[in-house]
Amino acid sequence: MGVNLRGRNLLAIKDFTQDEILYLIRLSEQFKNLKLSGSPHDYLRGKNIVLLFEKTSTRTRCSFEVAGMDLGMGVTYLDPGSSQMGKKESIADTAKVLGRFYDGIEYRGFKQDLVEELAENAGVPVWNGLTDKWHPTQMIADMLTIKENFGRLKGLKFVYMGDCRNNMGNSLAVTCAKLGIDFVGCGPKSLWPEEDVRELAQEFAKENSSSVEFSEDVSYATKDADVIYTDIWVSMGEPEEVWQERIKLLHPYQVNKKVMANAKDSAIFMHCLPSFHDLKTSIGKEINDKFGKDYDLNGMEVSEEVFSSSQSKVFDEAENRMHTIKAIMYATLK
Ligand code: CP
Ligand code: NVA
Repeated sequence: MGVNLRGRNLLAIKDFTQDEILYLIRLSEQFKNLKLSGSPHDYLRGKNIVLLFEKTSTRTRCSFEVAGMDLGMGVTYLDPGSSQMGKKESIADTAKVLGRFYDGIEYRGFKQDLVEELAENAGVPVWNGLTDKWHPTQMIADMLTIKENFGRLKGLKFVYMGDCRNNMGNSLAVTCAKLGIDFVGCGPKSLWPEEDVRELAQEFAKENSSSVEFSEDVSYATKDADVIYTDIWVSMGEPEEVWQERIKLLHPYQVNKKVMANAKDSAIFMHCLPSFHDLKTSIGKEINDKFGKDYDLNGMEVSEEVFSSSQSKVFDEAENRMHTIKAIMYATLK
């Protein structure tokens, strides 16, 4: 039977089957071809979407905006300061109102519970544009990027380095397990995912003949990897005070030349971005001023050398956010 995602929410990848995820990746390839060949694809003309952002964004916001416009839709962007949501109006009431105006709602915010409450009350598809727990739209772009580089997904070895229990670590463990990719999370034990996420990932790995493991040993974890992935050490919504502790815990898990040399020669480097790979950001500079005397923070989670190497696919990955978000909206709204 064919895959039909019409009317579905995208709140977490765990809710989607392997067939549904692979369908979204194939649809993204088709939309990418249409975009690159300059062929119009305004298949959702007459529909409207709203983008609610309670945290900042470059890629996710712009992907939803450009994808929405390419599909012919009207797009409204609401930043944290410009709606009543959460302050004078509950999430449930906001959802009920927006669901009457719009055909789909994107939400980026703090707790996963909030996007779930929005979805329960909206009556139209809700897409999770990142919460503390999951980042599902990023997953389709990441898997498309891996497929473009290796021609397949199943059987590859994927290593996630650093803060394994943030939205990215959680999402990648589950997504890899679902798609038959062997996942290794490499970081300090105190930053491994919560029990429920680890159990889910193990269950999916069992169903799809893949493996999920966590290790504190960089050399063991990264040996012969096909993909090395990392994310920033302190995520949006976390207090500034955690930087010092995080740097101490995570600096041994930086992705650098030595790590890449331990992976396969054909290995690629990926990162959802934004990244602290040099000192050209205000936060990067500020953190370096505070802690740079004890640690080399010129590159934090990844060295500049790896970030700008030919193995790095980070900008292809960022571009793929737009093609994949287009596929997600089309599949759920068509
Ligand atoms: N990767 C990602 O979600 O980037 P933004 O925070 O810029 O949306
Ligand atoms: N873990 C990061 C991802 C950013 C796309 C954060 O939540 O800030």
